[in-house]
Amino acid sequence: MALTLARPAMAHMASFVAALREGYSRDTLRTETPESIAAIADDPAWFLRQTLDPPTTVVLPDGALGQRVPETVLWGVEGDEFLGSVHFRHHLNAVLEQWGGHIGYAVRPSAQGHGLASAMLAGMLDHVRAHHSELDRVMLTVNLKNPASARVIEKNGGVVRDVVPHPWVPGDEGRRYWIDLK
Ligand SMILES: CC(C)(COP(=O)(O)OP(=O)(O)OC[C@H]1O[C@@H](n2cnc3c(N)ncnc32)[C@H](O)[C@@H]1OP(=O)(O)O)[C@@H](O)C(=O)NCCC(=O)NCCS
Repeated sequence: MALTLARPAMAHMASFVAALREGYSRDTLRTETPESIAAIADDPAWFLRQTLDPPTTVVLPDGALGQRVPETVLWGVEGDEFLGSVHFRHHLNAVLEQWGGHIGYAVRPSAQGHGLASAMLAGMLDHVRAHHSELDRVMLTVNLKNPASARVIEKNGGVVRDVVPHPWVPGDEGRRYWIDLK
């Protein structure tokens, strides 16, 4: 697959909705519902506005309201087809320092296993190097139950920082990684 990283656009929305229906989720901890998918399918322009200019708050996995840090969202696409997304949060806050880190990504189920997450992370690291020279390194987190994602991080130079309890999933643990940018 010939992957390009692009800003989310209306041209990708039909494929994005198809990805949601196929089981793609915007959040690893919260799966989509028929209602959440219908809201996006019914008003893709609203969804795009929210994605490109998000609110300043975020509902955390425990339902509490947190401060959203500025972020850059890029979609992995092939033509108009949506394949996955990669998010870069411009700085850490107390919540992201514990879990979440600077960069997160997800690939739609039908496109997994073809190196796309590795390519999207590599592309986003290039973007951060080019546009955020204030950062010497970025942090990423991964659940120990997600070895594919750990591999994606390690293939991109990730070095284990430590193992921490998962703040949102009782009993789970995760690794925090650093990736040097310099
Ligand atoms: C995790 C995820 C992003 C991987 O996407 P992907 O495009 O399939 O990943 P890639 O193909 O780039 O690379 C996966 C790597 O993990 C390896 N892998 C896959 N399953 C594995 C497993 N069970 N154990 C160890 N390694 C595994 C693959 O072999 C590949 O490594 P390789 O290139 O050396 O062969 C994708 O499964 C996904 O979107 N999951 C849901 C969201 C998610 O978990 N996001 C990450 C949160 S930290």
